[in-house]
Amino acid sequence: MDYRQEIERRRTFAIISHPDAGKTTLTEKLLLYGGAIQLAGSVKGKATARHAVSDWMELEKQRGISITSSVMQFEYNGYCINILDTPGHQDFSEDTYRTLMAADSAVMVIDAAKGIEPQTRKLFKICAMRHIPIFTFINKLDREARDPFELMEELEKEFGIGTYPVNWPIGCGHDFKGVFDRDRREILAFQEFHRGQNKISAIECELTDTERLDELIGHLMREKLVEDIELLDGASYEFDLDAVRAGELSPVFFGSALTNFGVEPFLENFLSMTTSPLPRETADGEVDPMGEDFSAFVFKIQANMNKAHRDRIAFMRICSGRFERDKEYLHVQGGKVLKLAQPQQMMAQERAIINEAFAGDIIGVFDPGIFSIGDTVCAAKHKVQFEGIPTFAPEHFSVISQVDTMKRKQFTKGVTQIAQEGAIQMFHAPNSGMEEVIVGAVGVLQFEVLEYRLKNEYNVDIRRRDLSYGYIRWIEKTPRKPDELNLASDTRWVQDFHGKDLLLFNNEWSIRWAEQKNEGLELSEFSRNW
Ligand code: G4P
Repeated sequence: MDYRQEIERRRTFAIISHPDAGKTTLTEKLLLYGGAIQLAGSVKGKATARHAVSDWMELEKQRGISITSSVMQFEYNGYCINILDTPGHQDFSEDTYRTLMAADSAVMVIDAAKGIEPQTRKLFKICAMRHIPIFTFINKLDREARDPFELMEELEKEFGIGTYPVNWPIGCGHDFKGVFDRDRREILAFQEFHRGQNKISAIECELTDTERLDELIGHLMREKLVEDIELLDGASYEFDLDAVRAGELSPVFFGSALTNFGVEPFLENFLSMTTSPLPRETADGEVDPMGEDFSAFVFKIQANMNKAHRDRIAFMRICSGRFERDKEYLHVQGGKVLKLAQPQQMMAQERAIINEAFAGDIIGVFDPGIFSIGDTVCAAKHKVQFEGIPTFAPEHFSVISQVDTMKRKQFTKGVTQIAQEGAIQMFHAPNSGMEEVIVGAVGVLQFEVLEYRLKNEYNVDIRRRDLSYGYIRWIEKTPRKPDELNLASDTRWVQDFHGKDLLLFNNEWSIRWAEQKNEGLELSEFSRNW
């Protein structure tokens, strides 16, 4: 196969959801279809995901699991699929956001009884920022669910996108009869004998065939379905593939991942609607994924489990061309040409050393400590530099200091290095240097990681005092100097280690206050890095 065909058949997406909506279950079912795993229950189980927050040692051990399950590649119907896992639960961190920078589309799993939940909201924002296609899988229809129209309205209102239900549920919970495929005009029946089977036979059935429908789903359900579909056909958005690909219209699917109902039709529709690898922005315009020359950017760095060797794995998203194991490439930020050592890819559960990979793929390479998040690696003869990965607003803040004042130097070095790796963010009061270090994290577990690593790698014990702030915004534009702004009394001005100005807030009310009382003040939830 020519390298262009290899790229063309790649589909790289992230699955996003609030914990418990069914992300793991759906991922597992998708892997089963691809034949990548044989048994349900093989994907990272609950027991491992729910580790104690304070037990960082335990976490260290489990890192092996999160590395192998962070990207999963499998084949299905001629497509080569890369699923990116977005860690949730206590593992929720800035890494979760960064992973989305490597995806070309997102699948949003929603619990039909709950609708949109906080973590879905956060992750959706990042997808929307990138205008990538977003597909919605409304899960757990085998349980009591909210009214589907209400769910559609919630998605449209909260997320400001259009929705296009590809199929529509017929009842829910005990009365769940299946879904109606709007395009094919057929019913996928959810019946006892279909449960747990991989193939669910579709029953072609026109809505006008009253007798047949009554037989299939009963008189009352039939009436409701006909009414619903009429309403949908008349009032909902038209299907528009361009709008889907621009992230403006989300195709919606109803199903039940646990019973495997609706997963295969979802996968098939998804694969035909989503895109092959998308072009990426660089300092000098877009890079064509089909271009011959290799280029990639680093979106995640994972400290290795093996303590004897302080090595790390840098995860890269290939943006164009073909990667070859024996070739040398240019690390743009380091200005050096090098061979990427131990290139590996995750095939479902296993890590394998690879000889080649293509645009759309994620590879992990051995990092002797040279890579930073957002770095570009490319063919030396065709140098490009990708737009850096933004820094996202943390939501938890602490003031830290070293216990032993003699260890000031190690403390500063340690915190700075860990911040450079992107594990935490570091802020300080303007013009105060490192007098008082404020650290910020997207997930609280990152503080535990920081404390543990400072002690183990830098031999520094720290004191930590949590701050009540929950929001931080970068100042994009300001009519006055930050200390002359009209701010609520509990709002605080700080700087990050690039010297950029930020404001710390206790609540959303103070953010609105700042924006309303200072005309021309522009705040942002992330900071673009070039
Ligand atoms: P997550 O990765 O998004 O956190 O969710 P996960 O797939 O682990 O699913 C959360 C719980 O919801 C699990 O139950 C899972 O079995 C259940 N679940 C997932 N999809 C469906 C569905 O379509 N229908 C129903 N009824 N349940 C579903 P659990 O009891 O918390 O865990 P487990 O002991 O079953 O693993």
